Amino acid sequence: MILITGANGRPGSAVVREFARRGRPVRALVREPAKAEGLRGLPGVEIVHGDMLWPETLEPALAGVDRVLMISGAGPLMLETQCTFIDAAVRASVGHIVKFSGKDSTDGFDNERFRSSRSHEQIQRYLYASGAAWTVLQPSQFMHVYFEEVPDIVASGELRLPLGDTTLAPVDIDDIAKVAYAVLTTPGHEGAIYPMTGPEALTMTEAARHISDAIGKPVRYRDVSLEDKQRSWTEAGYPAPRVTAFGQLFAERRRLGRSTVDLGTHERFGVEPTTFAEFARRHAGVFRGDDQYIVTPAGRPGDGT
Ligand SMILES: NC(=O)c1ccc[n+]([C@@H]2O[C@H](COP(=O)([O-])OP(=O)(O)OC[C@H]3O[C@@H](n4cnc5c(N)ncnc54)[C@H](OP(=O)(O)O)[C@@H]3O)[C@@H](O)[C@H]2O)c1
Repeated sequence: MILITGANGRPGSAVVREFARRGRPVRALVREPAKAEGLRGLPGVEIVHGDMLWPETLEPALAGVDRVLMISGAGPLMLETQCTFIDAAVRASVGHIVKFSGKDSTDGFDNERFRSSRSHEQIQRYLYASGAAWTVLQPSQFMHVYFEEVPDIVASGELRLPLGDTTLAPVDIDDIAKVAYAVLTTPGHEGAIYPMTGPEALTMTEAARHISDAIGKPVRYRDVSLEDKQRSWTEAGYPAPRVTAFGQLFAERRRLGRSTVDLGTHERFGVEPTTFAEFARRHAGVFRGDDQYIVTPAGRPGDGT
């Protein structure tokens, strides 16, 4: 049996949907059953409840599992959550743990300067020493994070980010889900690290233009200071640790200035890379503010965690 954790979240729900689309049974771990409405009707999907921080809740989820895709949120508890989960998985004789990690696309990104990247590195080291076979997925920024800018885009026709002329190479979560499916269902990925970016390194002016073309309304990039952006994140209700971590992330991106595209993993698995223009067209209703961003297929608005 294959288990996906974080199954109510952005990448986790996409991977579960990919299994359902391919007609392959999968088990989906959620900690809040009420949020799993959208996963419930999917063919072949067994929903189990449990909290990765509380191993005693994981016994039913891990019973009979030989491979797991480990995902949890990027918040301050990620390190403890995933190390606790690795211990529980090893105790339950899970043979292969695929870690959903991350890798920023900017050239020379220093993982020590951003809390989540630092935690991912620590978790990876813990996993390598766990005795289980492992694989690491390292996607760059998700294209879906631009949905967080929809309120500004709708209200003012502006994409406001503290990035100057920095380029980023965001990747579509659906592309990552296809790779995750292949890694979990075919042999030969033990000890492999799979980085992924999208197919273009975009300035935010170019990203705004793609959104504008998709929605048929002017959208222009406005470079704002990091302090102003942090203030608007706080006003939007982001928790303080998240505001701090995003500050670290954007400061490092702005310092470095440019990204390099890496499509080696797309090519290795025969996945056609989704362009930002295609992504924006597919989600034009979200960028117009007409449709809510749905994390789970029939489900709930994203909470942007
Ligand atoms: N955002 C990006 O651009 C990006 C890029 C590359 C990599 N990543 C990585 O992708 C991962 C997912 O990030 P995300 O922002 O997409 O998260 P997300 O949508 O919030 O998904 C995380 C999921 O993990 C679940 N979870 C958290 N703690 C748990 C626990 N103790 N037990 C069981 N489930 C738990 C959450 O459950 P609830 O639904 O109940 O909260 C949520 O469904 C992170 O490791 C992040 O670093 C993100």
